[in-house]
Amino acid sequence: MKILVVGAGGREHALCWAIAASPLCEALYCAPGNGGIARHATCVDIAADAIEDLLAFCQETEIDFVVVGPEAPLVAGLVDRLEAEGIEAFGPSAAAAQLEGSKAFTKELCGKYDIPTAGFERFTDLDAAKAHIRARGAPLVVKADGLAAGKGVTVAQTVDEALAAIDAIASGAFGEAGAEVVIEDCLVGEEASFFALVDGKTALPLAGAQDHKAVGDGDVGPNTGGMGAYSPAPVLDKALADQVMREIIEPTVKAMAAEGYPFKGVLYAGLMIAEDGPQLLEYNVRFGDPECQVLMMRLSSDILPALMAAHDGELGRFDLRWREEAALCVVMAANGYPGSYRKGTEIDGLAALECEDNAGDLVVFHAGTQRSDDKYLASGGRVLGVTALGATVKDAQARAYGAVDRIDWPDGFCRRDIGWRAIDRA
Ligand code: AMP
Ligand code: GLY
Repeated sequence: MKILVVGAGGREHALCWAIAASPLCEALYCAPGNGGIARHATCVDIAADAIEDLLAFCQETEIDFVVVGPEAPLVAGLVDRLEAEGIEAFGPSAAAAQLEGSKAFTKELCGKYDIPTAGFERFTDLDAAKAHIRARGAPLVVKADGLAAGKGVTVAQTVDEALAAIDAIASGAFGEAGAEVVIEDCLVGEEASFFALVDGKTALPLAGAQDHKAVGDGDVGPNTGGMGAYSPAPVLDKALADQVMREIIEPTVKAMAAEGYPFKGVLYAGLMIAEDGPQLLEYNVRFGDPECQVLMMRLSSDILPALMAAHDGELGRFDLRWREEAALCVVMAANGYPGSYRKGTEIDGLAALECEDNAGDLVVFHAGTQRSDDKYLASGGRVLGVTALGATVKDAQARAYGAVDRIDWPDGFCRRDIGWRAIDRA
């Protein structure tokens, strides 16, 4: 089969790495890809959101199956467009992608189908939102409705902070995404991510994972796309995972089908494990990044038939096998990230690590690199995801940081404590 992966980040590198290992994959392309992905796939210079160009490429190249990584093209209807032209594509329709594309849509669905989530109110009138905040008092959570690259959420400990968040939204900081705001009760607990493959009616749980959103050690500082991740997540034991499937994932899959938007693809639930059980914080309609990197390292089954079964509505007969080991990913980012940073700085030391990764238990996934002659240059904020397997999270952490220390990139940094919660718990 000829496969196209859409996207350019560490998540897409992990997907390409896993798909390239499938005996079903005869040719692998990635649009637009990156310097690391080019080791496994032919990179084609088409942006992930250039829907018509992607369609034309699929037709010219006779692509059999498309796997879409990021949310923006899903919400914009890439899968609908490809399928309408007879090209099979993994991922939700635009209508089903509203689960990520609109927080208000998801909250209403949760309300209608009794899916546990924080209490909420929606506002299009920002003065009414402010009046509500003053009447309710803090703490509370203010969210811009649409896609805001993970930056549209303020957990406000004071009324003033919440009002300032409304002002930021009113000033147009989130563009269209801020046309509506959702104000939620503040939940307390430990966060975890839960992933399931869904075929429209059946959900197959993948493994749990935890990521580290804050830029600094100890989970302090501004939020990022994710500075590291590990799997399994000790907080999500088997009993809790079963509860999440029963109370959150399966009711959502049923609800989406009942509403006329059957969901196919990866359903990624951001959870708060609160005292009274798991609560849904948000849905994403794609793999997490960097959670995908640790999941792909732990998956021992061939990923491609699983993605195809999700597309074909045949997950009911499917099973996946996972390695017992833990996986941990340390993200290396450009100095300055998540603020402004330089591009084009040189990264040394990757070639030696590449020669050693044959056993598949240490892989440096690239999130933002370009290959220039025989050098790798940084081309993004998050640049590398150094990912290792180990008998425990602690072992995986030691191996990952061992590799990080062999990468020579003065213009980059990483957190030194990825996995601390799991290690403290052990
Ligand atoms: P979201 O994009 O909705 O997942 O929100 C981003 C982050 O804000 C989450 O990972 C949580 O850390 C935090 N958050 C969101 N909603 C709530 C809530 N209702 N209570 C407490 N924290 C929240
Ligand atoms: N790591 C968080 C995300 O992919 O949204």
